[in-house]
Amino acid sequence: MSLKGKHLIDPGDFTLTELNSIFQLAEKIIENREDFSEICKGKILATLFYEPSTRTRLSFEAAMLRMGGKVLGFSDANVSSAAKGESIADTIRVISSYSDIAVIRHPKEGAPKLASKYSAIPVINGGDGGHQHPTQTLTDLLTIKRLKGSLSGHRVAFCGDLKFGRTVHSLIKTLSRYPDNKFVLISPNELRLPEQIKEILKKDPNFEIVETEDLESVLDSIDILYMTRIQKERFFNEADYVRLKDSYILDKNKLKSAKKDMLIMHPLPRVNEIAYDVDDDPRAVYFKQAEYGVYARMALMALLLGVN
Ligand code: CP
Repeated sequence: MSLKGKHLIDPGDFTLTELNSIFQLAEKIIENREDFSEICKGKILATLFYEPSTRTRLSFEAAMLRMGGKVLGFSDANVSSAAKGESIADTIRVISSYSDIAVIRHPKEGAPKLASKYSAIPVINGGDGGHQHPTQTLTDLLTIKRLKGSLSGHRVAFCGDLKFGRTVHSLIKTLSRYPDNKFVLISPNELRLPEQIKEILKKDPNFEIVETEDLESVLDSIDILYMTRIQKERFFNEADYVRLKDSYILDKNKLKSAKKDMLIMHPLPRVNEIAYDVDDDPRAVYFKQAEYGVYARMALMALLLGVN
C-alpha cells in the first residue's frame, strides 16, 4: 500500500484500507523498532506549530528521529515570519525546499488544507482550531486496536467539550466508518457535538447516538470512555469557561460502576477532568495512548514518504 506524496488533512482523506495499512505498519514498528531505525535517513521533517503543543510536536519529532531522519521547525508563530505578516502559502512554498514532509498546527480551521494546496511536499494537519486532529485519531485508533483487538462493535462515550474538541470530531467520524460502533455523547448543553458532525454520522443506517449531560448514569454501559478537556482557548469569554470547566471530574469512586475492561482514554493534556487517583487503575490508558502516538506517526510518515 503506497500513500506516497499524499497529504493528511482530515482522517476522511484515507480509505479504511489505507488507515489499516498505517496501523499494520505501526504494529510492525512496535514489535521490532530497530528494523526501522534508518528508513528515513536523509529525510527532513518540518514542524510548523502556530499553536502550543507537547505531544503532537514532540511525538512527530521523536518519530522522525527514531527513523534516522532530521527535524527543523518552530514551536511559536512569534519566532517565525508569520509575526511579520507572511502568509501560510508563502511559508509552505519555502519550507517545501527545506524539507521532505511537514506537519502544521494552526489556530485557524482550514490553514493546513490551504498550505497543502501550495506545498510540494506532504502536509500533515497537526490540529486546526476546533476542527480536526487526524493524527490524534491515528493514535487513538491504534490504541483501541492494540488494547481491544478490533475497531468495531464498541459502545464509545465522548465526555467533556464536544463542541470545540477537535480530537472528538476526527475520532467519532472515523469510528463511525467501522461497523457496529455506537456512541454516547456526554457534555453540558452548550458544548454538544456540532450538528454538522451529527449529520455526517446519520448517513450510517445503523447510526445510534445517546446524548446526556450525566456521566454517571451511563458509565456502566460503556466499552471506551474518551474524556476531554474543556477547551479554554476556544471560548469567547472567561466567565463561560470558568462556569463550565469542572463539568466532569472522573475519579476512582465514580469508576466503581464501570465495566472491568472499559478503556479510559484522553488525548491529553488533562486539566481537572480525570483525578490523579484514576492513573493507577488498569483501565486508564491515556499515557499508553500518548506513547502509541509516536508509532502511529512513524508509520504515517514512512508511508507518505514512500520509504517503507
Ligand atoms: N493531544 C494533543 O494534541 O496534545 P498536544 O496539544 O500536547 O499536542
